[in-house]
Amino acid sequence: MKVFILGGDGFCGWPTSLHLSNLGHDVTIIDNLSRRNIDNELEAGSLTPIQYMGTRQKAWKEVSGHDIRFERLDVAKNYHRLLTLIQDEKPDAIVHFAEQRAAPYSMKSSAHKRYTVDNNLNATHNVLAAIVESGLDVHLAHLGTMGVYGYGTAGMKIPEGYLPVEVTTDDGTRVRQEILYPANPGSIYHMTKTQDQLFFAYYAKNDHLRITDLHQGIVWGTHTPETDQDERLVNRFDYDGDYGTVLNRFLMQAAVGYPLTVHGTGGQTRAFIHIRDTVRCIQIALENPPEKGERVKILNQMTETHRVRDLAKIVADIADAEIAYVDNPRNEDPENELHVQNDLFLDLGLEPTTLEAGLLEEVTSVARKYAHRADRAKIPATATWTERQKPGVPPGDD
Ligand SMILES: NC(=O)c1ccc[n+]([C@@H]2O[C@H](COP(=O)([O-])OP(=O)(O)OC[C@H]3O[C@@H](n4cnc5c(N)ncnc54)[C@H](O)[C@@H]3O)[C@@H](O)[C@H]2O)c1
Repeated sequence: MKVFILGGDGFCGWPTSLHLSNLGHDVTIIDNLSRRNIDNELEAGSLTPIQYMGTRQKAWKEVSGHDIRFERLDVAKNYHRLLTLIQDEKPDAIVHFAEQRAAPYSMKSSAHKRYTVDNNLNATHNVLAAIVESGLDVHLAHLGTMGVYGYGTAGMKIPEGYLPVEVTTDDGTRVRQEILYPANPGSIYHMTKTQDQLFFAYYAKNDHLRITDLHQGIVWGTHTPETDQDERLVNRFDYDGDYGTVLNRFLMQAAVGYPLTVHGTGGQTRAFIHIRDTVRCIQIALENPPEKGERVKILNQMTETHRVRDLAKIVADIADAEIAYVDNPRNEDPENELHVQNDLFLDLGLEPTTLEAGLLEEVTSVARKYAHRADRAKIPATATWTERQKPGVPPGDD
């Protein structure tokens, strides 16, 4: 299969590119390297020493014998280059990771909000419009987030994308149908993902594009069997207050002897998936595309749910670390339950990597190994969700 990986230089995109290339697929990475530039802006970097794209490509060729092609272009801006690439190369599938993906970064200032909206919505819409204009039948697999659902339910499990509803018409007939699960974004970043869903629904309906939307949980872990083969292939590991996702942040904090920072009561329940399972899920999604004319295929790409304070306790016990409860910079309920259906991937053969099995390895083989590269000053989360949460604003003052 010929596959374009948009955002293939990133944390999920790079190991996915290697995994698909290893399976014999013809992989082209398309990325504008914006994530590396954001590292420069934030004066923060990956805990692991990620290499330039050219070094990555060379190392992969040496290790596997496979070529991965790289095109540096901005999917949100360079529409015609994207279209030409699709027309010339005729990919069978496009995997779309190319968005600004950090909720705290999207909330830092109005400039960051506007950048996230411009970048994410235009990137997604450009890909859809380009597939239509190319006239080709390309399967698009997009990485969405569990955050589109919000984090509370009426007590039932969150279904895979669609909610069955029953309405009563004027003549008293009861009509059943399935609708997109009501969007409930918790940040500007999450809002862009909820808007993506509408683009997909429209293009699947109007142009019969084949689209899979993967509502992914928080990804943890670093290595996959492919990135493990050579130090130059190492994957990104974000730990800073904007991009560090909760579990990887805890692992790194434990490794450098920094108390694990739990926001608020730590009563937030979140969904998780290991990076090894992310790359497998993408493979499974590409092998099982929707039919032409079918509605968007939505799968919940997560394997476990945990409360943040319980996670902190597990990591603290493994790594002999302390826990510090700090003010929550987000605007969210202090406690929530989260129950999620993920039967579709399990039925298609996913065998999850459990926290129990993978955590210790992460602490020792990644967090401790690269602890000397950590900049402790970058750990605290500083972006607040509202003006009233900013430092120095008295309680109750809006
Ligand atoms: N990491 C997680 O825990 C997680 C969880 C749920 C969903 N996701 C989703 O998965 C996708 C990938 O996440 P990630 O963690 O790998 O993020 P990342 O920031 O590491 O990677 C995204 C990549 O896309 C590139 N990019 C961004 N905008 C672009 C544009 N306009 N043109 C070309 N390239 C562009 C960046 O340079 C980067 O290499 C995102 O869409 C994210 O929302 C990630």
